[in-house]
Amino acid sequence: MYFEAVRSERGCVSYLIGCEKTCAAVVVDPLDDQIDRYLALTASRGMRIRYVLDTHTHADHFSAVRDLRDRLGAPSIMHRSSPAPFVDIHAEDGETIIVGELRLNLLHTPGHTRDSMCVILPDRVLTGDTLLLGGCGRTDLPTGDPEALYESLFQRLLRLDGSLLVYPAHNYKNLEPTTLDEQKKTNPRLRKTERSEFVEMMRNLSMAMPDHLTEALRTNQTGGMTVSQIIQEAAERISFMTMTELRRRIDSGEPGVHILDVREVDAYAVGHIPGAVHLPRGQLELRIDSMFPDPTVRILAYCEFGKISTIAAGTLHTMGFLGAIALDGGIRAWKEAGHPLEAAPPAAG
Ligand SMILES: [Fe+2]
Repeated sequence: MYFEAVRSERGCVSYLIGCEKTCAAVVVDPLDDQIDRYLALTASRGMRIRYVLDTHTHADHFSAVRDLRDRLGAPSIMHRSSPAPFVDIHAEDGETIIVGELRLNLLHTPGHTRDSMCVILPDRVLTGDTLLLGGCGRTDLPTGDPEALYESLFQRLLRLDGSLLVYPAHNYKNLEPTTLDEQKKTNPRLRKTERSEFVEMMRNLSMAMPDHLTEALRTNQTGGMTVSQIIQEAAERISFMTMTELRRRIDSGEPGVHILDVREVDAYAVGHIPGAVHLPRGQLELRIDSMFPDPTVRILAYCEFGKISTIAAGTLHTMGFLGAIALDGGIRAWKEAGHPLEAAPPAAG
C-alpha cells in the first residue's frame, strides 16, 4: 500500500492512499492548496486518483474535493448526511470503498459534525476530526454534538482493534501516529470515560473560532469558490506590471498603458497614481465601453491592495480587453515605496 500524509502549514493533514498493484489511489480530506502536490505525487508513481473523500464537512479549511472531482472525473465520497451538492457517493456506516485491491471500511462517527466518518484500513484508521493524537475534535461548531461524540469514541472507535494506528485530519504538532490502545492510555480527552464528565468537558472548552469559518462552511457545503480561488483564477488569465516598471514608464513620460484606478471615488480623489483615470470596480462592466471604445488598448488596473484590481483585469480580459493587466501590488505599497501620487482636481462648480 502506498500511503503518504500531505500536510498544510496550518496543521491540516490529508492522505494519499494507493494500491501499488493496480495504480488506483484515493485522496482523503484533500486541501485546496495542495492540489498540485496530489497530482504530482500520484503522477510520479504512475498512479491515478480514482476517488476523493472528505471525512466530514470541514469548517476550518477549504476542501479540494469538488475541485479534484471536477478535474479528474473521480467520484466524491462523503457520509450520507453531508449537505454538499457535489457528493457522488453518499456513503453509509459499514460500507466499503474498493480502491484497486484496497478496502476502505467506513465508520460513521458523528459528534465533531453530524457527517463525520472514520476510514478503516488493515493496520490504521483515518479518524478525521473524531479523534486527534492527544485530543479530539471540538463539538461547538455547526452540527457538533458532545453526546454523539462520546458515543462515537467510546462505543464505536475505541472498540476497534487497539493496534490500529491513528491518522487524524489535524496534527498541529506533527506528532508520530500511535495506536488506539496508546491513545486510550495517554489521550486526556479519553480519560473522561463517564459520559456526563466527557460532555461537560467538551461544553466547557471555549475555543476560539477558526479563521475563515463562514467562508469555509459556505464553500465546503455548496461547492462555491473561495475568495482566493476567484483571485487566482483571474490572475491565471492576465499578466502583471511591477511598481518599478510602472514608475519608470511614468517618469519617461510615456507609460504605454492606460492606468485605471478601480477604487471608490473618495479614495481616488485623495490621491492616485499620476495619470490614472477612475472607474470603480462596481461599475466596471457597465461603463468600460464608453471609457475605452477601442478594446485593443493596454489597460493597467490597480486598487488598494492588488486583489480587486486582479479580479477587475480578469473581468476586462473576459470582456475582450485582452490587453488588460494589473499592477503587482496596490497603491498602499506604491505609497510605502515612496512613489508619487497626484490628487484629483476639485470638481467644477
Ligand atoms: Fe473538522
